[in-house]
Amino acid sequence: MELCGVPLRGPVLNGSGTFDAIAARRAFGDVLLERFPFDAFVSKTITVAPRQGNPPPRLWETPAGLINSIGLPNKGLEGFLASDLPELAQLPVPLIVSVMGFSRDELATLVEAVAERPEVAMIELNVSCPNVETGLVMGADPAETARAVERVRPLSERPLIVKLTPNASEPEAVAAAAQEAGADAVSLINTLKGLAFDPDDGGHWLGGGSGGVSGPSVRAVALQQVHGVAGRVAIPVIGMGGIASGRDALDFLRAGAAAVAVGTESFRDPAAGRRIAAELAALEAPDGSNRLPAPAPAVGVTQKGDSPPTFFRR
Ligand SMILES: Cc1cc2nc3c(=O)[nH]c(=O)nc-3n(C[C@H](O)[C@H](O)[C@H](O)COP(=O)(O)O)c2cc1C
Repeated sequence: MELCGVPLRGPVLNGSGTFDAIAARRAFGDVLLERFPFDAFVSKTITVAPRQGNPPPRLWETPAGLINSIGLPNKGLEGFLASDLPELAQLPVPLIVSVMGFSRDELATLVEAVAERPEVAMIELNVSCPNVETGLVMGADPAETARAVERVRPLSERPLIVKLTPNASEPEAVAAAAQEAGADAVSLINTLKGLAFDPDDGGHWLGGGSGGVSGPSVRAVALQQVHGVAGRVAIPVIGMGGIASGRDALDFLRAGAAAVAVGTESFRDPAAGRRIAAELAALEAPDGSNRLPAPAPAVGVTQKGDSPPTFFRR
């Protein structure tokens, strides 16, 4: 298959920031390269300046996932290019670099610098952050997203993926604005806003205050947003949010995604990407016919001869 003209051996990517390939290679050695869990690798989001990230605690476990408040710790653009990029370039799959700017100028600096490196196959714009010039979260507003994409589009011949935030009133409109401004693909969802209190003292549990919810608890929300966005844009959609099995991945493909990404599940099982790809391959019809949106079942209605009833079928 291919994504934005880049050949991929399969449709399973990682969600940015949820799999540290450099640390995994240190832990597992070259076996990681032989059995790499993903068909393309998306880097942790990088910013122009180095960031320490948020104070701990940075994670809160929910009944079905996580709230994270990591705060984008990273070495900054120079540190990434000098030390991380050469290591990520050794991965056996195409590399997608995720970038975030706190202004359009910062975004432009990042895209320009990353785009000229031949190791980089695609660039993902993480627009889930406030623009310090306007105070608006870039990805929450269609016009703001369009201005960001228009600014960086001429700076890169690499395909540009815009990573949408679910914390927008109409993600479909943001996706359409990104497409109009020249994006080659959109990916969604990023994390939903979430909060947890310390059971002992009642204060905020996360060092950063609030955080982002991910994992199986967001899957239904993600599926609905992917379905809505895929129905609105012609560019490929990369679907993610709570994918933990091949069946989950197939649901996203049915919703209209061209590829999927695995995030939180990789914390539980670092090889989850491979397992999910294998489960998906076993489920997919050879002609791809089971990717088509299935007609909505009449929930709770049992047809004569149906056994078990529709709502027990899963
Ligand atoms: C610990 C953690 C760190 C993340 N870091 C980033 C990041 O750096 N950039 C980004 O675009 N998304 C980041 N995300 C969001 C994921 O890439 C993904 O969009 C989201 O978690 C939904 O997928 P999931 O439910 O499979 O985890 C992070 C998520 C988690 C849980």
